[in-house]
Amino acid sequence: MQTEATLQAIRYQRGVLSILDQLKLPDETVYISINTADDAWKAIHTMSIRGAPIIAVCGVLSVAVELHNSKSKFDSISSVTQFVTDQLNYLVTARPTAVNMTDAAKTIINFLTPLHIKQKNLTIYIDELLDFMEQFLQRDLIGNRLIGQYGAATICRNNSNKKKLNILTHCNTGSLATVGFGTALGVVRQLAANNALQIVYFTETRPYNQGSRLTAYELVHDRIPHTMICDSMAGLLMRTQPIHAVVVGADRITANGDTANKIGTYQLAVLAKHHQIPFYVAAPTTSIDLTKRSGDEIIIEHRPSSEMTTIKGINLAPEGVQVWNPAFDITPASLITGIITEHGVFQPDELEEKLLGLQQSLTSPL
Ligand code: MRU
Repeated sequence: MQTEATLQAIRYQRGVLSILDQLKLPDETVYISINTADDAWKAIHTMSIRGAPIIAVCGVLSVAVELHNSKSKFDSISSVTQFVTDQLNYLVTARPTAVNMTDAAKTIINFLTPLHIKQKNLTIYIDELLDFMEQFLQRDLIGNRLIGQYGAATICRNNSNKKKLNILTHCNTGSLATVGFGTALGVVRQLAANNALQIVYFTETRPYNQGSRLTAYELVHDRIPHTMICDSMAGLLMRTQPIHAVVVGADRITANGDTANKIGTYQLAVLAKHHQIPFYVAAPTTSIDLTKRSGDEIIIEHRPSSEMTTIKGINLAPEGVQVWNPAFDITPASLITGIITEHGVFQPDELEEKLLGLQQSLTSPL
């Protein structure tokens, strides 16, 4: 069994994809081969891979691998288009709350349609498609670096009278939840790199312990100064320690700025408001869903009760106990100070306008 710590959630080269099994961390470092979209669906559904951005990248690359390795079975451009569209739409159903896989599927299907009409050569069509799907890897990484820079700069600017800052974060939003660097944890990494981080507090993130298993693993690996707290300690922490900002990730941000993120985020936002601590959401624009007006329209995933009642197969509660296990909650825009994206930091109420402006400038001819 390989035990060396690694922060590489995904390994890819054309035709070969493997993912770090996050269910086995931090005890074991095991990579699982993903050969088909069905393999990816199962890995996403069981949370061997989790975190909104990496779910999308894993899904897209699984289709690329399956397409590349079964090239010979396609005899027409339309059969490839149909295959890719079906697999992407299937992957969207693996988990309902994060929007990134839906966004990736839309982006690829929009790319397919004009290419399908234009391209006459099947081999070139498949190659162009594989090239496009592979770009998701690089895009995620570049986006995360920018999120880190914008986030760190904003938080430092708003605390210009302090040399070092204390940050609180939740869940895992780092290299394991993305292709690398991370979103909210990317902001923390950037603050640490700028020598502006005193300490990052992070929650265990019950019930699935993405904090104690995964964020802890990343912070220890990168030697970033940290302190772990139970989710229930956040109130006392904010009351007794200087916390300069709370920074969390997002699974889906709606047009009005409401944000779905890991269960427990909402209570942190309420506490932050009470203690007058700025509360930031850090996410790529692929986590923004302008088709939904508010958080009321977001489907919250409910996970099996065993995720609450057991840890590593050991019972924590009596058999037969009834539980409620929503995996995400919604933080209303009114509690959010700023949304940190790869294009800058926006207030929730300007998000839609800014994003539409960006989309227009990216599609209009030069
Ligand atoms: O259930 P998970 O572990 O997939 O939930 C993850 C989160 O809620 C993260 O905060 C979010 O996906 C952003 S990851 C950059």
